[in-house]
Amino acid sequence: MATKQSSTHLYTTRIDLQETTREKLVQLLNETLAAGTDIWSQAKQAHWNVKGKDFYQLHLLFDDVADALYEHIDTIAERITTLGGIAYGTVRNAAQNSFLAEYPNTERMHEEDHLIALADRLSTYGKHLRHGIDVAGELGDQDTADLYTEVSREVDKKLWFIEAHLQKQK
Ligand SMILES: [Fe+2]
Repeated sequence: MATKQSSTHLYTTRIDLQETTREKLVQLLNETLAAGTDIWSQAKQAHWNVKGKDFYQLHLLFDDVADALYEHIDTIAERITTLGGIAYGTVRNAAQNSFLAEYPNTERMHEEDHLIALADRLSTYGKHLRHGIDVAGELGDQDTADLYTEVSREVDKKLWFIEAHLQKQK
């Protein structure tokens, strides 16, 4: 049974951000951690199972996307603990707390289906990250806002790489 995250437990810290502010940031960052772990595993799912005439370049591209997402998981989790929170970072936490849709039925997917599935999820994750930039900024934590900006820019770029396979001129 997965453990539901609790946003209320905070450690004391000398950081000059109020406890109520840190609580909100930790809650938000744990949502991001769950979704980040989820989408990383979904990119791996595409990397392992893609089929089609462009198999090899998509196999590499999906791994590149997964690697980029994975790198940020650590940054997000460590910002949570820096703020005195607990990082809920197991795959069971991710399964219970991620706001992303589960990956579609892989048995029925061809290469374009993987591209569409990842584009949809990168877009949803990217929207959440942009929201995180605003929320962290409004809470007076420019460091967390900067973290969200960095991750957001990277996710936008990976979305471009994926969507470039699907885009048609109007
Ligand atoms: Fe691999």
